[in-house]
This record gives sequence, C-alpha cells and structure tokens, in this order.
Amino acid sequence: MLEVTYLPSIVVVGTQWGDEGKGKIVDFLAKKADVVVRYNGGCNAGHTVLVKDRKFKFHLVPSGVLQGKIGVIGNGTVIDPKVLVEEIEALKHEGIDLKLYISCKAHVTMPYHRIFDRGKEIKRGREKIGTTGRGIGPTYADKMKRTEAIRVSDFISEKFEEKLSRILELKIPELLEYGIIKDEGELESYKREIMEEYSVYAEKLRGFVTDTSLLLNKFLDEGKTVLFEGAQGTLLDVDHGTYPYVTSSNATAGGACTGAGVGPRRINRVIGVAKAYTTRVGSGPFPTELTDEIGDFLRERGHEYGTTTGRPRRCGWLDVVILKYAKRINSLDELALTKLDVLSGLEKLKICVAYEIDGKIVKEFPASISELEKCKPVYIELDGWEEIERSEWREIARKDFEALPKNAKTYVQKIRELVDLPITIISVGPDREETIVWKA
Ligand code: IMP
Repeated sequence: MLEVTYLPSIVVVGTQWGDEGKGKIVDFLAKKADVVVRYNGGCNAGHTVLVKDRKFKFHLVPSGVLQGKIGVIGNGTVIDPKVLVEEIEALKHEGIDLKLYISCKAHVTMPYHRIFDRGKEIKRGREKIGTTGRGIGPTYADKMKRTEAIRVSDFISEKFEEKLSRILELKIPELLEYGIIKDEGELESYKREIMEEYSVYAEKLRGFVTDTSLLLNKFLDEGKTVLFEGAQGTLLDVDHGTYPYVTSSNATAGGACTGAGVGPRRINRVIGVAKAYTTRVGSGPFPTELTDEIGDFLRERGHEYGTTTGRPRRCGWLDVVILKYAKRINSLDELALTKLDVLSGLEKLKICVAYEIDGKIVKEFPASISELEKCKPVYIELDGWEEIERSEWREIARKDFEALPKNAKTYVQKIRELVDLPITIISVGPDREETIVWKA
C-alpha cells in the first residue's frame, strides 16, 4: 500500500453539505499526526469511527484522541458543556488516555440556547432551516452580539454566576416568549437551576482550558504535525454555503485560521473530503437530489441517517459543479473520495457536470439561492459495477487502486479529470483498513 506523505499542517474540509465521512479520513490521517484540532461548529457535528468493529461517536472531541493524539477544541467552536463532559467521561470509561485542550475563547452553549433554537424553527414553519436543534445558531448569534455571550473563560471563572445573572436579565423577553420562565419572579430560580448543574461541568472542564492558539503555534514551531478537522461542509458555511440553509460558522478552510488562531501561512495542505454521491440533511435546494428508488437505495446502502439527530438524509448523484466550487473556496490540493462501495450494484451512474438555468448552461456554482433553486442538473452517464461483498472490499483495499472493479476505476478517474485534482485517498468501507491510498 502507498503511504500518505505528511506536512506539518493539514486542513481537512467537507466539500459538500457535511457527512462526507471526514471523521474516518481524519482518523486515518491521524495515524501520523501529533495533534488534531476542531475549529468550527459544536455538537451539531457527529462522527462515527469504527475501530475493529468498535463504534465511537464524537460530537465535540476530535476523533484523533482515539489514537492517543493531542486533541484541541479551538476558539471558533461552540461548546455545550453537558455534551462535552459526557463525551470525556465516555472516552475515559473506554480506557482512552485523553490528552485534550479547550480554548478559553470558545463560546458556551447554555440550556436556553437549545430551547431558542427549537422554538425559532417551529416559528419559521415552512421556511425552517432544519437545524440540529443543538443551540448552535443562538450561541453564535450571542457571540456576534457581544453583550449576551459566555466564553469558556467566563464559564470557568468565579464570576460566572454574576455574568449569568446579567445575561438572563437581558434575555427576559425571550425566556418568557419560549416559556422557559412564566414570569420575571422565576428568573432567580431558573438561574439557580442552571448554576447547580453547570457549576459541576465547569469544575470538570477547568483543567482542560488554555490559550489554544498559543499552544498550537508552539506545536507548529516544534515541527509537530497538526490536523485541522473541519466540521460540516463547504455548502453549510455561513458565508459560502447555501445561505440561509447553512450552519452558523465557517466550515471552510479559512475557518481553520480564525477558528484555531493560526495564520494562513501556517497551513501547508488542504484536503477536501467528497462522498462518491451527494447527501444533505435539513432544508434547502439540492440540484441532484433523487426522490426515487435510487435515492432510497443510496440512503439504505450508505446508512444515510444523521449521527446527531438520526434524521434520514436526502440523497442524490455526485455533483462536480459543487466539488469545483469547494476547490476554489478552500484552495484544495487534493480530494479524499469516500463511500465508493455504496454505489456497487447500480447499473448506471450519473455525474452532474453543469446546470441549466432558464435554458442557459451554467458551470459555476450560483452565488444566489434563488438561482440555485432554478438549477436543473446536466449529467454524464457511466456504467456501474456489480455487487461486491464487504470482505471483498477489504481484500481490494489491502491491494491497491488497480484492484478496484474496472468501472469503479473509470468512475474515480472521471471525477479526478473533471475536478482536476489528485484523489489521494479512496474509502471503500467504514473501517480504517478499508482505505486505498492512490497517487493520481
Ligand atoms: P445547525 O448547525 O444545527 O444550526 O443546522 C443548520 C443546518 O446545518 C441544518 O441543515 C443541519 O442539518 C446542518 N448541519 C449541521 N451540522 C451538520 C453536520 O455535522 N452534518 C450535516 N449537516 C449538518
């Protein structure tokens, strides 16, 4: 098997709407890394990593910790202390020796953020975003507002209660609106309820908190290999995604700099993770969506149900217009292609190479959502390959690219040619071993 070559700092980003299988790719690359960093999002993300048939679920802790690597949760993330404490305890329970650092500048999701998130979705009715309901949007909104935010440094300080009291006062109208308190008289008892539970979390997390930007830059100065693990995907980025049907953070490669506190010159390589077909959860336009039996086939075969919410994912053909857009926005150096095995058994495969909007052929991903809503995919068609048993995939992965079925090789080569990027990693199953390293 070929080896992946390493440079000190690598960003791994999703090229589609998240759920591309970044967790597995990061886990695979983490073998040779020293540090793995989360730089955006919160517990809306979810990775499942399979190691020798043992399933590990992650929402906040970088999955590299499974291999004894240093995990860092950067300033660009939002942290739900309840979820993080549960995750840390579960990992400790599994006997993982946890080396974890949490940024003092990251923002904290409070219980009311979760309630606001769900309440606002209900109010949006048919216009709903389809959020994960984890309080992500309201936490980032408070960060940007500056007056009602709680950073990790506040959360673990002695002044937390005082700060919380001031914030709750400002939030009275919303607390009433969403039925969290019935009248202002309940404010004090609501605060006490939070303090009782959350001061325990603060105590448990205090020892992990530091200035992670300082730490990461020191690691890079020492020549340590750092992997920056993007959560969600390019099309869910708050600036470059399909706004407003996006998450509230910068999921693209630029987010690694602001979200971890490292300068752009410190990034050596950017790997885009692309699923061999496309999926999305939540609302918003999706040009290659399949609402027929092929869509159902992809969902069932690919286990396309959310790790965080269990929601069925919408499924469709691979869209190269999206991959080329991700290449531009993230300065991708290469692609990692995942879930190629899921396509086995389909007679014909389609790849979207352009869109048609009002009779015109468009090759660039539209900047406006109303244009995107009008896009009709223009496809090329390729022959599929026969059904392959899981054990056979393992056998193929043990060999190399050449061992893939002929039509699977053609499919991968076509993507390589259309996107004009090397495809260096091909994943053909959930396990670490079901991975092919290919120098295209
Ligand atoms: P939020 O991040 O919970 O506010 O959700 C905003 C949008 O991003 C919704 O469409 C979610 O389904 C989507 N989303 C958030 N996190 C993920 C993820 O990790 N994978 C895929 N979609 C996500």
